Amino acid sequence: MLIRKQAATTAWSERSEKYSRNKEAPWSIMFFNIPDKLSRRLNIFLLSVFLLAWFSVLLLWFPTTNTTTPQPNHINETKSQAHIPMCDGSVSVYVYSLPPEFNVGLLDDCHHLNVYTDMCPHVANCGLGQLLSGMGSGASWFATHQFIAEMIFHARLENHPCRTWDPSRAGLFYIPFYGGLHASSKFREPDLKVRDALAVKLVEFLQAQPWWLKHHGKDHFLALGRTAWDFMRLEEGPDFGANSLLNLSPVQNMSVLTVERIPWKSSNQHGIPYPSYFHPSTANEMLTWQNKMRQSERPYLWSFVGAPRKGLEKAAIRDKIIAQCAGSTRCKLVRCGSAQSKCHEPSEVLGVMATSRFCLQAPGDSFTRRSTFDSVLAGCIPVFFSPHTAYTQYAWYLPEDPDAYSVYIDEKGNGSQRIEEELLKIPRERVELMHDRLIEMIPRLTYAHPNASGFGFRDAVDVALAALSKHVLTKTL
Ligand SMILES: *[C@@H]1O[C@H](CO)[C@@H](O)[C@H](O)[C@H]1NC(C)=O
Ligand SMILES: *[C@@H]1O[C@H](CO)[C@@H](O)[C@H](O)[C@H]1NC(C)=O
Ligand SMILES: *[C@@H]1O[C@H](CO)[C@@H](O)[C@H](O)[C@H]1NC(C)=O
Ligand SMILES: *[C@@H]1O[C@H](CO)[C@@H](O)[C@H](O)[C@H]1NC(C)=O
Repeated sequence: MLIRKQAATTAWSERSEKYSRNKEAPWSIMFFNIPDKLSRRLNIFLLSVFLLAWFSVLLLWFPTTNTTTPQPNHINETKSQAHIPMCDGSVSVYVYSLPPEFNVGLLDDCHHLNVYTDMCPHVANCGLGQLLSGMGSGASWFATHQFIAEMIFHARLENHPCRTWDPSRAGLFYIPFYGGLHASSKFREPDLKVRDALAVKLVEFLQAQPWWLKHHGKDHFLALGRTAWDFMRLEEGPDFGANSLLNLSPVQNMSVLTVERIPWKSSNQHGIPYPSYFHPSTANEMLTWQNKMRQSERPYLWSFVGAPRKGLEKAAIRDKIIAQCAGSTRCKLVRCGSAQSKCHEPSEVLGVMATSRFCLQAPGDSFTRRSTFDSVLAGCIPVFFSPHTAYTQYAWYLPEDPDAYSVYIDEKGNGSQRIEEELLKIPRERVELMHDRLIEMIPRLTYAHPNASGFGFRDAVDVALAALSKHVLTKTL
């Protein structure tokens, strides 16, 4: 009985949908295409027939519509809501219009933005890089460079529904400085004054702005695509090419978003995800990918994508990992470093991670790795060897309890001698819980396509803006 009722209401709402979509047509025929004299009588007659029919419809159908849920309408409602840009009013951000030498002007010389690589292919498409074909349908997959979050942030904020053009209404002030790209273009600049010049100029520009004075810059923020180490040159010790941007006192009043903070001296630094390769425009694409990773077969127990590092104490664990992985049939090793290496090919990297249960995240040149975010995207449980690879970095993004989504192995402890044994010890139910949790985390760690508006999930930029708004409120009250 109930089933039949539901079928009937469904049919009815589909018909009424069709009718209401075409409702202009019957009315215009009735009133405009009939000779004048006849028309009045006809109109009254038609109107009475119409009203009678309408009353019968109401009488006949109301009891059933009251007792059942009109499901198709409900689904369509949520669908259309997903396209309403999300800004609930708790965030409003003003984007400074900087002289081009601080951002897009730097791109003119993209061949020399990084002393190791030609950045021209990587700065294309607002920092998403080159479109990847063969990663499914749509234009959502890009060969995104690991140190380019600042450009994606800028592009996202230019289109963001919470952007305000009126600084007097803004809670947050975003300074779109491509500090990471500039820093990497000057790593080999021996004259420290020249190396720091643009940072000094930026600070002078800001301090002359009326909106800076209101809260001494405490509601201002930068987003940087490189690690904080690149902007905090130390007075002593070897010179790794860093500038002094984050040492300047006005910058210390601001919030600095960076892919790696210095955990023990940086109350104003906040970790943001490294960009991975997936930049979807719709919630549907995101859901499809999450389902795919939820169901992916994972024949490898563990995997490691990386290269050995020479002479770095904090990367010594890499030698242990590579030796153990190479000696196990349950581990998949993708070595980086050689010319034929596929370790920078997105499809190769994600393919390995999507077929592995655990992905080892050993520190490299610094504590953090882009690979951590690739592994979450692929639904592969990260295994950390330092608390500074993720736990002390991304408080806005990761669950408070590390055991909920990751495994920690003390690199100095016995466990690091027998990694596979440690992983096999973890109960199956816990592995499944961690895997589920990880899949849920994917949207907030993803940088959505900057040209999408209102995609129905909160991405890395939305999470940062919400957290930053709360944080700044406590600093400026
Ligand atoms: C819901 O939307 C789809 C496409 O967006 C449409 O084909 C369908 O007829 C709609 N159904 C109802 C009941 O509105
Ligand atoms: C976004 O749209 C603008 C204007 O249509 C276009 O110039 C830009 O290249 C697009 N960005 C990306 C990443 O596709
Ligand atoms: C930083 O903020 C403090 C107030 O907390 C203010 O006295 C100081 O002048 C600010 N520094 C700069 C460089 O604006
Ligand atoms: C590590 O192994 C050694 C030798 O088997 C043992 O003596 C030591 O107690 C172990 N340490 C820990 C922390 O389990």
